[in-house]
Amino acid sequence: MKYARIFTAVLIFGFAFGEEDPVEHVKKQRQMLREAFGLLIEQYIEEGKELFKKYGLDKCDFGAGPGVVKGVAAKMPRYFPDADRVMGIESRIYYCVAKNTGKTFRQVADEMTKNWTGPGSKPPSDIDKISFYIVSESRGMKIDPSVNHPKEKEALRVAEAVFFKRWGALDFSCAVCHASDGQRIRLQQTSNYYDPYPKAKQQDFNIYPIFRAASEATQYADHRWADCFWQMRLPILLPGSILSDAMTLYVYNKIRGKEIEAPNVSR
Ligand code: HEC
Repeated sequence: MKYARIFTAVLIFGFAFGEEDPVEHVKKQRQMLREAFGLLIEQYIEEGKELFKKYGLDKCDFGAGPGVVKGVAAKMPRYFPDADRVMGIESRIYYCVAKNTGKTFRQVADEMTKNWTGPGSKPPSDIDKISFYIVSESRGMKIDPSVNHPKEKEALRVAEAVFFKRWGALDFSCAVCHASDGQRIRLQQTSNYYDPYPKAKQQDFNIYPIFRAASEATQYADHRWADCFWQMRLPILLPGSILSDAMTLYVYNKIRGKEIEAPNVSR
């Protein structure tokens, strides 16, 4: 709870604005959080850069040649012939670490996510810091994932079906919470991933990975899907799974053309 006091101060200051439009209110609150936590994010990026080398990822091909990270986040997830599947940044990290260490992909994915942060203030895990670093090298670039390879098309179709499918004890689908602008759960806006950008006005995945101030958790795609699946009371989606990367491709495809403003901070 190291940062709880800063977060509370921002919240109280935020309420001092009084009866304003909730969307404007959230915008102002975000701006203040960014000012309060900006340095912390830069620190995680620096640590991620060191970890990138420590895990031998300078030999890993993220789609632009071994060790190249500039701009790769804007073009992922994508199909990788060596793995014969669609991979987002996290899966690609698990894949390359597995190759470097002789472990299996699943072993690495499970190990690297076992310290996912959440309420209770654990330090961010290496996977989040490495992702922070990689995505930071695509800041300001327009999101433009490839959807031409048959496996990319297949991933998109599977994810689209999942987006609309109602299931689980609560009979939720992603669409229940994420299919129009202007939807909120308490003060949290939920993005619109039914309409593509720029028709949809409320879409936030371009700020991921994030530092979530309320729970002091760092979070990227795999972790987000696990959370949203948990909210739907479905079995937790495995990090690095085919479906996890398919969901990322689906959402990234909906925000194609938006600029990456990540890593960032959220309430
Ligand atoms: C019960 C409502 C609910 C359901 C169902 C749900 N989500 Fe979410 N989702 C949320 C909330 C709340 C957040 C956090 C918003 C924030 O960070 O302020 C969120 C965050 C996200 C984010 C990241 C933040 C953003 O605004 O882009 C994405 C992407 C996302 N959800 C996609 C999905 C997908 C895909 C599914 C289906 C697998 C899904 N969600 C199911 C409520 C839901």
